[in-house]
Amino acid sequence: MRTPLIAGNWKLHTTPTAAADWMRSLLEDLTDLDVSRVELLLNVPATHLAVLAPITEGTPVQLGAQDVSAHAEGAYTGEISAAMLLDAGARYCVIGHSERREYHAEDDALVRAKVLACQAVGLVPILCVGEVESQREAGEHETTVIRQLGGALDGVDIARSQDLVVAYEPVWAIGTGKTATADDAQAMGAVMRSFLKGRFGPVADGIRLLYGGSMKPDNAAELLAKADVDGGLIGGASLKRDQYLAIATAAA
Ligand code: PGA
Repeated sequence: MRTPLIAGNWKLHTTPTAAADWMRSLLEDLTDLDVSRVELLLNVPATHLAVLAPITEGTPVQLGAQDVSAHAEGAYTGEISAAMLLDAGARYCVIGHSERREYHAEDDALVRAKVLACQAVGLVPILCVGEVESQREAGEHETTVIRQLGGALDGVDIARSQDLVVAYEPVWAIGTGKTATADDAQAMGAVMRSFLKGRFGPVADGIRLLYGGSMKPDNAAELLAKADVDGGLIGGASLKRDQYLAIATAAA
């Protein structure tokens, strides 16, 4: 049984101060949620981690980052290492989000280096993959995703299924209000699972595969009901406490 992972992605939103208030309110609102049936995670800006860590400590809410340096340390002005994120309170890190690939020219080799940087310190990578609209229209969505997975996981090993999360985010569905159908999300989940089994063996049965791209309270239950949709990577709706909670409730 894979416990669903409901992962918010706050992107470039909120301040540490506002986030602290937001988090305290969320924790008060958790009373009706069966937290044994769902894992709660918010991937926040790096500046928020050390502020939110003492607030979430000992609660069911975990913290993650949205990007990491491929380097462990050195003269890399502006970069933040995996060890820094871990020490500041992150347990997960989003890697290779399509916005990083598009606006920061991240390719599969860099994404792979970031996966390895996370693994080196025990930060769990949430590896993002997904096709753009023209690739789906051309029927190339599966080969695109497999190529991204192959590149990012080349030579990567995992000991336990909880050491890796993969998020399928069709780029045309992110922030657009267009969602892949639950059947499309499941079809890609099955393709990814089969690739991961070929790569890692039986441990791949336990790897969580998330869907991301305009997941909202009104479509979450149908998506999350699919066998190979083990959670969500949620942008816009994760900034609204009631919507984030509604999606978590659907998962639980
Ligand atoms: P969205 O973003 O839910 O706002 O579409 C998802 C993501 O980019 O992770």
